[in-house]
Amino acid sequence: MPLIPLRPLLAATQRYGFAQGAFNVNSVIQAEAVIAAHEMFRSAAILQGADLANAFMGGNADFLKGTLEDKQRGARLIGEAVKKLSQDSPIPVVLHLDHGKDFASVKAAIDGGFTSVMIDGSHLPFAENVELTREVVQYAHERGITVEGELGVLSGVEDDVFSDQSTYTNPLKAVEFCKKTGVDCLAISYGTKHGAVKGENVQLRKEIVIAVTENLKHEGIFGVLVSHGSSLVPRYIVEKINQLGGTIKGANGIPMEELKSVIKAGIGKINIDTDLRLAVTRNIREYLAGNNSAAENPALKAIAELMNQKPEQFDPRGYLVPIMDSFITGQTTDPQVLDIFKRIKQGVQEVVGTLIVEFGSVGSSAKVEAVSLEEMAQRYQRNS
Ligand code: G3H
Ligand code: ZN
Repeated sequence: MPLIPLRPLLAATQRYGFAQGAFNVNSVIQAEAVIAAHEMFRSAAILQGADLANAFMGGNADFLKGTLEDKQRGARLIGEAVKKLSQDSPIPVVLHLDHGKDFASVKAAIDGGFTSVMIDGSHLPFAENVELTREVVQYAHERGITVEGELGVLSGVEDDVFSDQSTYTNPLKAVEFCKKTGVDCLAISYGTKHGAVKGENVQLRKEIVIAVTENLKHEGIFGVLVSHGSSLVPRYIVEKINQLGGTIKGANGIPMEELKSVIKAGIGKINIDTDLRLAVTRNIREYLAGNNSAAENPALKAIAELMNQKPEQFDPRGYLVPIMDSFITGQTTDPQVLDIFKRIKQGVQEVVGTLIVEFGSVGSSAKVEAVSLEEMAQRYQRNS
């Protein structure tokens, strides 16, 4: 079926009390794996490309310095691929921009075929965040595209989004923000953290989720809350990476029971990136360690060298540079690179499958209204 906007899926999470994982991808093969896992469980799917992941998919290996042109190319590439995959799929699929930096990046994603966007103005003073987000909402809603905003600051690192300290979301400000901007969903800061080092036995500030959700209801404002920095950082995956030569230290994720308790309180979208990177890294390390012939393949040899140079690294974009183009597009004739692709897909499916079950989105495809962008644009207009 055609790609759908995020809004009807958000409505379903609210109505039926489950959460939908939103999974970051940096390539077509990861997108294929995310969709295949959701099909297995008849769950709707949210795929997200972060702003700088789009720069990487646009062909810039130095993606942290990605230009707008890189992002435009990358958004088109992943947009076209996911549109085709969705067309052939029986489940509703959303393609969402994660951590959109500015209006131009958001526009690049929408032009590339994304059906939902995040504008991350959380680093700005409140009034400026409202202004930027409002501008995006107006542009996006006219096209039926869903918008996620952010209020409050998460600590940790995700591409160029980083902070040493958290500033928890003020529930009163969150309600004012939703009222003034008209966002469909809001990322809040309530104890989660980007990256693999989140601290031991993290306890989430559920009262923030409850306060915002209740107040939005009382005010008659639609808004679903989004949990960023929510990877579980499975110990069994980190241990295996380190047994195979990795040096990931101090890794700890958000406990599953904590996440489950906030789903009941009002979190409807849960962002996962780190866990995917970890599972892919473990699988590639396993493949390289178990196949002596890999050392004779120049591309695989170069990947192994990059992994050895930075054993603490677990972002596949860092060490897959020697096969970057084929990784991004999924096109190769090299049988050993195809083996690597298979391992990448297996890693993605292990994480995504587990979380579809744990977050309660099994069977969610039947609960989501398949609304077109045109119909969604009309609904926004009627309600404005
Ligand atoms: O936007 C993506 C997520 O916030 C990533 O969080 O580092 O815990 O996977 P994570
Ligand atoms: Zn995030």
